[in-house]
Amino acid sequence: MSIKNILQKDNFTRDDIIALLGADNPTDIELIRNKAEQILLDKCGLKVFYRGLIEFSNTCVCDCHYCGIRKSNHTVKRFTLSKEEIVSAAKWCADSGYGSVVLQSGERSDPAFVDFAEDVIRQIKSATVSQSLPQGVGITLSIGEQSLQTYERFFKAGAHRYLLRIETSSPKLFDSIHSSTQNLERRITAIKNLKQASFQAGTGVMIGLPGQSAENLADDILRFKELDVDMIGMGPYIPHKDTPMSIHTEYFNINKDKIFQTSLLMIAVCRLVLKDVNIASTTALQAIRDDGREMGLRYGANVMMPQVTPVNVRRDYLLYEGKPCLDESSEELRKGLDLRIRSLGRQVALNEWGDSKHARTAEKPRHGGVFCGT
Ligand code: 5AD
Repeated sequence: MSIKNILQKDNFTRDDIIALLGADNPTDIELIRNKAEQILLDKCGLKVFYRGLIEFSNTCVCDCHYCGIRKSNHTVKRFTLSKEEIVSAAKWCADSGYGSVVLQSGERSDPAFVDFAEDVIRQIKSATVSQSLPQGVGITLSIGEQSLQTYERFFKAGAHRYLLRIETSSPKLFDSIHSSTQNLERRITAIKNLKQASFQAGTGVMIGLPGQSAENLADDILRFKELDVDMIGMGPYIPHKDTPMSIHTEYFNINKDKIFQTSLLMIAVCRLVLKDVNIASTTALQAIRDDGREMGLRYGANVMMPQVTPVNVRRDYLLYEGKPCLDESSEELRKGLDLRIRSLGRQVALNEWGDSKHARTAEKPRHGGVFCGT
């Protein structure tokens, strides 16, 4: 079936998805992009939601083979921001009209870390209440696998969205890029537990992993659907020199353009299949091309995560090489982004949590009952 005919459908089979992801001529790619944009505008509207990204600690107990802040990388200078620094970054976001923040860190689940994160969530909530944000900023967490009890504590403290990528839906590929202490099944259970704890859950994968096929990527999208997540964050895999997977640097350099294009197609096809979820246009896209994140928006994404991590530690939070936005102040980055978004004919949402329409239309609200500013 031609790409044009596949795009007439409302529900897509695995073979349809594989064909869409394999599109390799400019006409077909533009047809897919255009349809994804239509679905985005129809289901989610013109608004782009900001989540100020606070990378608050690079200490990590995991040893993922791809990640620059993995436990075994002893060249990394480890840091944890103070509670005051984190709250102050969140306050800047609230004062600047960003309705939400993402708190991201390396993975730890020891009691001191859980207490620290819980307290930070509470403090951010009380410090960011204002007339324009009556319930404070929306808080998304991205701090790894935790127990159901811990998720419940974080939700109770005031966080209401959580990102936990499955990285790939293929157990074999998952095992090949992680240490033996990690497994896909446990990651999936963690996502189910997040939903059980009332979180809006997000997941995602890396694109262009060595050995990853179009079939794998199609299965990733089908897995997102099955997990019924509210948010997707995906980006290209980019090698980091101090990791075991740096042996794939040449593979990456040779295939960079294709990996970038496939990443954009993944966004578009996720939009076509999942329709009303929030999809982030991730920084890793910008690491390959300067306008990567704008391209992500054009292919169906509606969320951006501008850096608000204090500049003095940004260089110590390098998950991959070539990470952009290391030096500019939060204010400079924000102005640049606003302009770029408007030039695409889209709107920057101000003072809104920006929950996904998918979460809002779910039969039973999973957000603690109240939405803010929308
Ligand atoms: N390239 C691209 N993405 C990476 N991540 C970690 N390391 C890399 C890399 N080298 C992503 C993972 C993780 C998220 C926080 O960052 O998908 O879930």
